[in-house]
Amino acid sequence: NFDLETNKKGNLSIGGADALELADEYKTPLYVIDEMKIRGNYRRLYKAFSKQYDNFNMYYACKANTNLAVMKILEEEGSGIDAVSPGEIYTSLLAGFDPSKILYTGNNVTDEELEFTISSGVRLNIDSISQLKRLSKLSGAEGMEISFRVNPNVGAGHHKHCITGGPLSKFGIMEEEAVEVYKLAQELGFKPVGIHSHIGSGILDPEPFMLAVRSLMDIAGRVHREAGVEFDFIDFGGGIGIPYEPEESKLDIDLFAQKIVDLFKEKLGEYDLGKPTMCIEPGRYIVGDSSYLLTRVNTVKQSYRKFAGVDAGFNTLLRPTMYGSYHHIVVADKPGAEPTQTLDIAGDVCESGDLFARDRPMPDIGEGDLLAILNAGAYSFSMSSQYNSRPRPAEVLVKNGEADVIRERETFADVLAKQNVPVRLLK
Ligand code: LLP
Repeated sequence: NFDLETNKKGNLSIGGADALELADEYKTPLYVIDEMKIRGNYRRLYKAFSKQYDNFNMYYACKANTNLAVMKILEEEGSGIDAVSPGEIYTSLLAGFDPSKILYTGNNVTDEELEFTISSGVRLNIDSISQLKRLSKLSGAEGMEISFRVNPNVGAGHHKHCITGGPLSKFGIMEEEAVEVYKLAQELGFKPVGIHSHIGSGILDPEPFMLAVRSLMDIAGRVHREAGVEFDFIDFGGGIGIPYEPEESKLDIDLFAQKIVDLFKEKLGEYDLGKPTMCIEPGRYIVGDSSYLLTRVNTVKQSYRKFAGVDAGFNTLLRPTMYGSYHHIVVADKPGAEPTQTLDIAGDVCESGDLFARDRPMPDIGEGDLLAILNAGAYSFSMSSQYNSRPRPAEVLVKNGEADVIRERETFADVLAKQNVPVRLLK
């Protein structure tokens, strides 16, 4: 299910490089990113939609992985960017994205952040009436082309924290107020040209997407009819899931795209909406399966339960602790080996919740073995921290067996950077 590659030695191979050699050379924990996986995922998804509808754009949701090299790869592929903070805008500009290809969808945005958006020239997707009104008072905002994030009253996601549509969600403007908000934008002198929704993340079932497309298109239709808005683009956000568990299957992306586009076209006709650009904002689908977290077992311990203790923790990869997410784990010198035991795989953080797996069937594991945690490309390094004063790991990018360090391992000095002890405490 996970397309694992092994080399002649029987070791896990990542982008043509031997995982054991990478770990020896760059030390652990180590994020290893396979460049061609990213490119392949981008191209497959782009093709699936663009062959159904030729006015189509993708905005990579860079919160999934903001490494500059990863961003550069996506810039080369022709992607746009979904940015959610000034820092992400800054990184995107540095990676070479044209401001016109960056859509800023912030939540609870300050005036300073709005000013930064205006001066950087990126497109602005507005999340609240408050934001719209404050924007109208800022210099440089007159006549701006804007869009609105609408809550289409549909939500889905792999965990409740990752559902971003529906009545409990803090995001977007309500369906019922959409027409009024677009009218208000026009009165304030803006040019509303887009509409957006994002219902959640990690969705493997096409059904919620279909509901969201239907809902957003009905809202767009009303806004067009009642406020006379001509849409340049309609953006359905991200959320396409990938299989993390062995028994989950991949979404049939061609069939998925066809269903979505058929409904989109039907609704364009129903409401006479012309031929706006159709956009999506994938994050996980593009980078999720591109990366492995390599971590070494340093302690095997039989307590009330059996533990394999490794040199990474939830400071390195938060998803299992934060969402209870499953990440498949293999032993790097025998990735296909059958399980012989069940055990817990625990990190090195001083909290009991620091577990990569509970009761996981695994082959024999000894101290010194290298483990590879799969699907660590999305929301992995980007959610890492220095908790327990641990420097963050390095990242390497591999292609054709060659590895480049794209982020150096942090040092203790990096952990201490920006701290100051007041003079009065220095004796
Ligand atoms: N667009 C917007 C406005 C978003 O908020 C997100 C994700 C995306 C696009 C991309 O969603 P994706 O295609 O990656 O599902 N930390 C969580 C995921 C949080 C997603 C937040 N927003 C996790 O590790 O599962």
